Amino acid sequence: MSSVFASTLLKDKVALITGGGTGICRGIALAFAAHGCHVAITSRKIEHLEPTRDELQARGVRAMANAADVRDAAAVAEMIAAVASELGRIDIVVNGAAGNFICLAENLSPNGFGTVVDIDLKGSFNVSRAALPHLKAQGGSVINISATLPYLGVMGQAHASAAKAGVDSLTRTLAVEWGPHRIRVNGIAPGPIEGTEGVRRLTNEKSRESGLKNCPLGRMGTTDDIANAALYLASDAASYVNGVTLVVDGGLWLRSARILGEE
Ligand code: COA
Repeated sequence: MSSVFASTLLKDKVALITGGGTGICRGIALAFAAHGCHVAITSRKIEHLEPTRDELQARGVRAMANAADVRDAAAVAEMIAAVASELGRIDIVVNGAAGNFICLAENLSPNGFGTVVDIDLKGSFNVSRAALPHLKAQGGSVINISATLPYLGVMGQAHASAAKAGVDSLTRTLAVEWGPHRIRVNGIAPGPIEGTEGVRRLTNEKSRESGLKNCPLGRMGTTDDIANAALYLASDAASYVNGVTLVVDGGLWLRSARILGEE
């Protein structure tokens, strides 16, 4: 894979990536490994993790896969202790584990709402908090995967919009609280990324077509687009960037609310 970044960009750093077995976060994991970073990936299902762990190892870095539900603070603590003990340190945390589905608020059960908030928001908190002592040891970087959903009112997304708004708030608060420890906390809000479960679950042919028409760059995103943003935020190139959620969506959300007719 060719890269605009030096292959040593994250040499000998250690990253923990939740949701790292599939989709966007698999792309981040592989890109980090291609730039010299040792990588631990976690999600609920070990069968989602093992093939990606093998791909990571094939890139010549140390890699491990551990199943843990980010909603379970005790399981998270155990998983992070195992990562620190096996890989020796943690420099970078990517909070990518997420859940979503389309459901109007009037049909959504309290548990349905709570489940998504628990995975996306509480999960990001649980993992970041448990990783803090390791990040503090030498400084580091946290990247929270967010969404552009909360910037607008999006039908059927009360749960995910609330969760991601909370994630963005967590990003800003932790940036302020943890900056003095040389830990930068930032976010990435991806647009629709081709080939991911999110796009399969949340879009259909019609919505993808109109999305592409509205997107100023005229295309879906790729996992490399998001991985490049993560490489930047995790690296020293972003050493003065803290508390920012970087939108990587080709400008799509900026045009979502327009009602003017166009040729
Ligand atoms: N519409 C409405 N409610 C739904 C739903 C849907 N499509 N899917 C789940 N729920 C509700 C359930 O009914 C349940 O509420 P209830 O107990 O009141 O009935 C609640 O959400 C929890 O569902 P459950 O299946 O027990 O949760 P889980 O922890 O096993 O799964 C989810 C988590 C719901 C997020 C599931 O969709 C999932 O595992 N997704 C995989 C990851 C993912 O979503 N990736 C895409 C990212 S964009």
